Amino acid sequence: MRNRYAVIGNPIEHSKSPQIHAAFAKQTGEKLVYERILGDLQYFERDVIRFFQQGGRGLNVTVPFKVRAWQLADMLGREAQFAEAVNTLLRMPDGSLRGENTDGIGLVRDLTINHHCLLNGSRILLLGAGGAAKGVAASLLEQEPAQLLIANRTSSSAQQLVQRLAGQGSVEWGGLEDLEGRQFDLIINATAAGLNAEIPAIPDGILAPGGWVYDLMYSSEPTAFVTWGRSQRAAKSLDGLGMLVEQAAESFFLWRGVRPETAPVIAILSAA
Ligand code: ATR
Repeated sequence: MRNRYAVIGNPIEHSKSPQIHAAFAKQTGEKLVYERILGDLQYFERDVIRFFQQGGRGLNVTVPFKVRAWQLADMLGREAQFAEAVNTLLRMPDGSLRGENTDGIGLVRDLTINHHCLLNGSRILLLGAGGAAKGVAASLLEQEPAQLLIANRTSSSAQQLVQRLAGQGSVEWGGLEDLEGRQFDLIINATAAGLNAEIPAIPDGILAPGGWVYDLMYSSEPTAFVTWGRSQRAAKSLDGLGMLVEQAAESFFLWRGVRPETAPVIAILSAA
C-alpha cells in the first residue's frame, strides 16, 4: 500500500497542496498518495486521529485548524512552538504526533534561495501580528536583519508578538501610523487585508529605493499589495506562491527525507 498523506482544512477544495505534492512525488520517485480532507469544524481532532490510526503518515494542516493542530501534537518543533500553530503533522515510530511549522522557513527559502534576497543586514518591515505574522516572525529574525519592525493596525498585538521574540534578536513594534518617515529594504504583508482586496493603511515612500515587497497571499491576479509594491517602484513585488511551494517542500522533506526541486513546480503553478 502506498504511504498516505493529506491536507486537512475547511474549506479545502481550492488547496493546491495535492498538486504540489503529486509533482514532488513524481519528480523524486517517492511512492505516495496525497489527498484532500474537508476537516469537520467540530471534530477536527477526531478526524486527525482517525487518519493516523488508519495508517496515514503525514498531514498538512491549513485554515482554520493550525492552532488546534498545535494543541493536538504530542511534541513540537521549535518553529511550531513559537508560532503556536502547526501546518505539518508527522506520525513518529512510537505512534505519537509531531507538529512542525514550515511557513517561516518557506518564506525565507523563497526570498533567499529563489530570489537571492539578502535578509541579513537589511531593514525589514513585517505588517500584521496575527497567525500569519507569528508563523514567519522568528524565522525572519533568525536571518539577523539590521532592523525588524513589526507593525500592526492594533499596535498592542505587535507589542505582544515582539515581547515573545525577546532574546532572539533586535526587533521593534509599532502601529501603522508610526511608519511615516521610515524606510525599509523589504516590506512583507502578513495582514488579512488582502482578503477584501485592501492593503493596510501605510504611507507612501517607506520603501527604500531598490527595495522589495512580498505579500504572503497569492492569487492568479496580482494581489492588492503586489500592486501597491509596483506603485512604489519596488525592485521586486512578489506574492506568496513561492512560499507556498517552499513550505510544502519542507513538509515533504520532513516526511520523506528527500528535498524536491521547487523551481519547476513554482513554474507550473505560475503558468496555470
Ligand atoms: P491571519 O492568520 O491571516 O494572520 P488573523 O490572525 O485574524 O489572520 O490576523 C489578521 C491580521 O491582519 C491582523 O494583524 C489584523 O490586524 P488587527 O490585529 O488590527 O486586527 C490584520 N488586518 C486585517 N485586516 C486589515 C486591514 N484592513 N488593514 C490592516 N490590517 C488588517
